Amino acid sequence: MSDQVRTIGVLTSGGDAPGMNAAIRAVVRQGIAKGMKVKGIKRGYSGLLNEEIEELTKRSVSDTIQKGGTILQTARCAEMRTPEGPKKAAEICRKHGIDGIVVIGGDGSFMGAQLISHEGINTIGVPGTIDLDIACTEYTIGFDTAVNTAMEAIDKVRDTSTSHERCSIIEVMGREAGYIALWCGIANGAEDILLPEKYDYDEQKLIDNIIANRKKGKQHHIIINAEGIGHSTSMAKRIEAATGVETRATILGHMQRGGSPTCKDRVYASIMGAYAADLLYEGKTNRVVGYMHGEYMDFDIDEALAMKKEISEYQYEVSRMLST
Ligand code: F6P
Repeated sequence: MSDQVRTIGVLTSGGDAPGMNAAIRAVVRQGIAKGMKVKGIKRGYSGLLNEEIEELTKRSVSDTIQKGGTILQTARCAEMRTPEGPKKAAEICRKHGIDGIVVIGGDGSFMGAQLISHEGINTIGVPGTIDLDIACTEYTIGFDTAVNTAMEAIDKVRDTSTSHERCSIIEVMGREAGYIALWCGIANGAEDILLPEKYDYDEQKLIDNIIANRKKGKQHHIIINAEGIGHSTSMAKRIEAATGVETRATILGHMQRGGSPTCKDRVYASIMGAYAADLLYEGKTNRVVGYMHGEYMDFDIDEALAMKKEISEYQYEVSRMLST
C-alpha cells in the first residue's frame, strides 16, 4: 500500500445513473478488503464542503446493488467552480483523514476531482452518466439501463402511434450528447433521429419524409428527438399543420435516469469501482477509469478531459439507412 493512502472517500456527483450503487459498493468492499477505511460523502461536492461524511462498512452497502439512484445522493455544486472551492474541499479531506477520493460522475465532476488533486488529495474518476459522453471510455455507468428504459417506453408509444396512424416525436435525454437518441433510433427503428451533433434544423426535410412515408404506406412515423434540440411539443404542432398527419410529442424525461440497473451496469460498475479503489491503494492520483477495446484501464484526468468524443459517422449512416 502507498504510504499516504489509508482512508478513502467516495462520492457521487452530477446527474444520478443506475449502477452508481454497484460502484459505491465495490469501492467500499474492495477498499476495506485492501485494509483501507472508506468514508461515504453525501450529496457530491456540496456534501464534502458541508462535511457530510460518515464511515462506511461492508454492511453499509448491503442490499444496494439492485437499486437505482445513488445511496449517497448527488448534487451539482457551483462552489467547486470557484477558486476557494477545491482548496476548501482538500482541507476538509485532510481534517477527516481522507487521503484519496473516488468521484463517480461525468466530465463536470472530473473537473472537480482534477482541481482537488492539484490541492494534494489523490482523486480517481469513475464514469457515471447515462449520456455516454465521456471520451476516454466506451462505457459509462447507467447508459445501458437508461437506453433500455427508453427503448421499452418508445416501443409502447409506437404501438399507439401505429393504431392511430400518427407521427410521434419522442424526446430522450441528452443535452449535448445524442447517444441515447442514436441507440434508441436504431433499436426502435425510428424513421428520423435528431441528434445535437448532427441535426441541421431543416424541419422541411422531416415534413417531406413523413409525407413520402405516408405515400409508401407506413402507418406511423417515429422521430426520436434529443433533449438538446428539444421543443418537441411545438415541433409536433408545426409538423401536424404542415403534413396533415396527427402528431403527438412524448417527453420521456427523468424516468430514463431511474430504475434497477441492468446486469451490464451492475457488473461494469462493480469492476470500475473496485478498480478505482485499487488505484488509490497504489497511491495513484488524477486518474479516470475507462473501458476501451474490451479492457478496463485508466487515464490521466487532464488527458481524459482533453479528449473529444464524436458520434460515429458509420453508426449514424447505418441508422439512417435502416430507417428507410
Ligand atoms: O447528465 C445526465 C442528464 O440526465 C442529461 O441527459 C440531462 O441533460 C441532464 O442530466 C438533466 O439534468 P437535471 O436532472 O439537472 O435536469
